[in-house]
Amino acid sequence: MTNTAPRYDRVQIILHWLIALIILGMIGLGLFMVELPKQSELPPGEESVRAFYFLLHKSMGISVAFLILARVVWRLTHKAPALPDTISKWQQKAAGAVHGLFYVLMVAMPLSGFMQSTYSKYSTKFWGIKLPRLAEADQGMRELYSQIHECLAFVLIALIVIHLAAVIKHKLAGSGISERMSLK
Ligand code: HEM
Ligand code: HEM
Repeated sequence: MTNTAPRYDRVQIILHWLIALIILGMIGLGLFMVELPKQSELPPGEESVRAFYFLLHKSMGISVAFLILARVVWRLTHKAPALPDTISKWQQKAAGAVHGLFYVLMVAMPLSGFMQSTYSKYSTKFWGIKLPRLAEADQGMRELYSQIHECLAFVLIALIVIHLAAVIKHKLAGSGISERMSLK
């Protein structure tokens, strides 16, 4: 059955904004931390802050994965409200494709990050708690997942730009689409 509600339900709206905010922060943090000097690159006596930000990124990433899991389960059991007929068929299809890809990336980002961390020589910590090691450290596999994680991050950034452009376009056109996800 089609969902004829004029907007998304409360749970979807809250999860959308919470996850969007954290993901934007995670992208910023990820891009920032990889540029920080390693301990071996610093003069003696200077302490690297790289590990601190890596630990923060990993803990936040695992935390947001739980929110994403809740969102996927909610979305699989609750349809999105149908777009009005005033939105052309190709735009409805394009929106569906971007949103579908968002869900794939929301799952793939924490997963590839976690796999990368699993193959690293450092153990994965979740807010200070050492997680059990699922595989032996492997430099080749770590590199592979690191590249996957980085490539996916750039696809995610491109999608966010497209998504934002669509929201702004609809806002300017006064189509009422942006209100479907508004917190008010
Ligand atoms: C939604 C979740 C996540 C987002 C959006 C995200 C985003 C990013 C971004 C943008 C980078 C920088 C990429 C680069 O320039 O190399 C990065 C790097 C990294 N991320 Fe994530 N990340 C997420 C989750 C995770 C998780 C769950 C972990 C591990 C448990 C993780 C571990 C790492 C590590 C270790 C790096 C450094 C890569 C390197 O040194 O080559 N990430 N992440
Ligand atoms: C940063 C500013 C953002 C704004 C202003 C924004 C705004 C919106 C709006 C207005 C909608 C409703 C579209 C409709 O009615 O069809 C929407 C849907 C959606 N947004 Fe965003 N969004 C943002 C960021 C993000 C981010 C970072 C993600 C994911 C990583 C995301 C994922 C989604 C998804 C998956 C949907 C469709 C929900 C569904 O049908 O299940 N958004 N967004």
